[in-house]
Amino acid sequence: MQAERARPTAPGQADRAEGTGQVNTGVRALLRLPRAYRLMQWFLGTRRARERVIAEHFRPVEGSSVLDLGCGPGSLLPALPPLRYVGIDLEPGYIEQARRDFGDRGEFHAGSAADLEAFAPESFDLVMANALLHHLDDATATRMIGGAHRVLRPGGRLVTLDNAWVPGQPWIARTLIGWDRGQHVRTPEGYRALVEPLFGPVRAVVRQDLLRIPYTLVILEAVKAPGGAAAPGILRT
Ligand SMILES: C[S@@+](CC[C@H](N)C(=O)[O-])C[C@H]1O[C@@H](n2cnc3c(N)ncnc32)[C@H](O)[C@@H]1O
Repeated sequence: MQAERARPTAPGQADRAEGTGQVNTGVRALLRLPRAYRLMQWFLGTRRARERVIAEHFRPVEGSSVLDLGCGPGSLLPALPPLRYVGIDLEPGYIEQARRDFGDRGEFHAGSAADLEAFAPESFDLVMANALLHHLDDATATRMIGGAHRVLRPGGRLVTLDNAWVPGQPWIARTLIGWDRGQHVRTPEGYRALVEPLFGPVRAVVRQDLLRIPYTLVILEAVKAPGGAAAPGILRT
């Protein structure tokens, strides 16, 4: 990761970071403002959802080392136990806000989650990517997953959560997902296809019960095999 490499643009300005399928125009530009982003999260009930996802899927261990890719304004940090936390986000405004709010509890870097060269191999127990993959095209996502695999200790886990297209999902979920800033929403199989070449078989857990409204989320949990080789891994629901 090259810190501070992100290209800041003003809210409202049309932009798409390289390799990042994120629309930041029109109303969606507002979401680049940390306060607007937090308001939207409150409306959807993401705080409670986040606590459940942390407890049931991310499962961070006290005292461990955790890398949070696409950390936004540090939304996950308040719900984590005491541990070594490093957050990365492409959006400098989010990183500034995160440093103001949680600078005493973690380290925050502005930069791409696909560029993790600054971190030593096997230096994290858990890599979290909460609502990131659906912002990344396949090439960028593949680089991100390769970087995550490199920085994970053997036995360490990569856990991702994203919205997803599934057959028969509620119309409200389909509509809201269609409005998402991320332009690379995939099916559960599409997300698995990104992770499995490096980590081995991954089972996806689809959940529609986490937010206040019907919404489809898929969680992948991948384990780095001892020795670093891909092996059947994973998963608990
Ligand atoms: C939907 S938000 C999720 C934020 C946070 N993980 C949370 O749970 O609140 C997606 C985040 O990914 C960031 N992002 C998009 N592309 C990125 C990239 N290539 N590298 C790092 N962060 C990226 C965006 O700036 C945004 O903060």
